[in-house]
Amino acid sequence: MHYRNIGKTDVMVSTVTMGCWAIVGDFNWGPQDEDDAVAAIRSALELGINTFDTAEAYGSGYSEKLLGKVLEGRRKDVVIATKASPSNFAPKKLRRACEDSLKRLNTDYIDIYQLHWPNHEVPVDDTLEAMDRLREEGKIRVAGCSNFGPGDVSEALAAGRLESNQVAYNLLWRGLEYELQQICVENEVSLLPYSPLAQGLLTGKFRTPEDVPPERARTRHFAAERPHTRHGEEGAEEETFEAIKKIEEISEGLGKPMAQVALAYLIARPGVASVIAGMRNAKQAAENSRAADVELSEGDIKKLDIATGPLKKRFGPALDMWQSEERTK
Ligand SMILES: NC(=O)c1ccc[n+]([C@@H]2O[C@H](COP(=O)([O-])OP(=O)(O)OC[C@H]3O[C@@H](n4cnc5c(N)ncnc54)[C@H](OP(=O)(O)O)[C@@H]3O)[C@@H](O)[C@H]2O)c1
Repeated sequence: MHYRNIGKTDVMVSTVTMGCWAIVGDFNWGPQDEDDAVAAIRSALELGINTFDTAEAYGSGYSEKLLGKVLEGRRKDVVIATKASPSNFAPKKLRRACEDSLKRLNTDYIDIYQLHWPNHEVPVDDTLEAMDRLREEGKIRVAGCSNFGPGDVSEALAAGRLESNQVAYNLLWRGLEYELQQICVENEVSLLPYSPLAQGLLTGKFRTPEDVPPERARTRHFAAERPHTRHGEEGAEEETFEAIKKIEEISEGLGKPMAQVALAYLIARPGVASVIAGMRNAKQAAENSRAADVELSEGDIKKLDIATGPLKKRFGPALDMWQSEERTK
């Protein structure tokens, strides 16, 4: 495992983070055995993953509670990243949300406290000032954001400081490369890619678009006819599976599982501190943690860029994988 700094701070994250959304086993993910979730967390820890990403919204607090329980006794070894929901960005609400998360997480500080999605109704200056107070009081170590677009990040940095931005980024969704990535690199705001396996598409478990169950087929890759989409677009199912086939061939050539190549690609991209990968059991934790040691050459990265170039062009600079009406700016 390798470790990198978050933004300009001394908080060190493992290059692979365990994402703790899917382990709640909700509508999107289907049932989850809690023993498997606990085993995934323990296995991640053993393999050197020190960073765990959760949110007050995941399972309405269940994900935070489970983490708090399983990480008991290991607090000083881990970095906990959680998120406040946009409805809680007004200063008083943010304080309350933070204190509630602390209780559920069974701790007295949060390492990385992130604004989950932009809320353009609450002035970002007020929210960042509230974050500063929480930091001064030792309740959080670092303020970060998530799903902030180029305009959102620039506005926030003019008002205060954010050390990280967690965004959808994977080989099939490269919109941030158009503009956001450079802004984050220039300002030393760490990028934390989420859904790095495109919610399972980049593991090879789905051979055709028809294999993807409706609850999973919600992103803009899939046609609007899919029952749970909300983007109203035609999707790009054929192009998506063509790209997956090419990535698979490149991975076979490297003798590595596609999931590890997909994660290693992101770890090698500018500005990325850690990839936030979902893992629902110990086996997935082991497989995904190994990506930290996969080194891709410039040539391999170029091949992957070319293989996924048509999709990148197709979706353009969009950041929101689910809605065509951008929630970011
Ligand atoms: N800030 C935000 O708005 C936001 C949004 C989304 C996610 N996130 C964060 O990012 C994390 C990861 O994103 P994600 O869960 O959406 O997608 P992901 O990491 O791309 O995909 C994870 C899913 O792929 C499957 N998988 C993982 N490793 C595998 C392996 N080695 N072999 C086979 N299947 C494997 C698992 O589901 P199955 O076994 O069920 O197939 C797992 O839940 C989340 O947990 C969350 O912390 C943040």
